[in-house]
Amino acid sequence: MAPSGKRQDRPADALALLRHEHDRIRQLFAQFERLRDIEDEDERKAELVDEICYELALHAIVEDELFYPLLRAAAEDDEMMDEAEVEHAGVRELVSQLEVMYPGDDHFEATVAVLAEEVEHHVAIEETDMFDTARSSGIDLAALGRKMQARRRELDEDLNEAPDVIDAMEPHAGMRLPPRVPD
Ligand SMILES: [Fe+2]
Repeated sequence: MAPSGKRQDRPADALALLRHEHDRIRQLFAQFERLRDIEDEDERKAELVDEICYELALHAIVEDELFYPLLRAAAEDDEMMDEAEVEHAGVRELVSQLEVMYPGDDHFEATVAVLAEEVEHHVAIEETDMFDTARSSGIDLAALGRKMQARRRELDEDLNEAPDVIDAMEPHAGMRLPPRVPD
């Protein structure tokens, strides 16, 4: 499936791009929360969790590969970067648990809720301390945004050709379903 046309409307600046992805992830969690206590919505809940896992996995790969190394070099704040990397590892761990869980499983909804809290905490720090550092450090945010968009597109394409490619990048138990292209 071709990437959706909407992505071409995204702003190229790296921080605007990240904020856009954060907002999308927040919206997906909010949609899940609205369905949480409704019965007979298991299929939609499973789809939403697939989308959340897909978005978080790609978002973390792009940040780890392109954004964090530049920020670490510019920031001279190893503590901030170390904590952010540990938080990414925590998010990955919960994502890997969710990828083999189904609505109705013990702790399925609790796991989504804890992931939502961890992600909210993490993106709040990114959007304040890390974005401030990125702005003041002289990083070329427009060029970084273009690189991040290109890498994101590449990952989308790879995942649609070979859904298990993400397993080669991150150690986890494997995707429950082939990931969907976010729309
Ligand atoms: Fe992050």
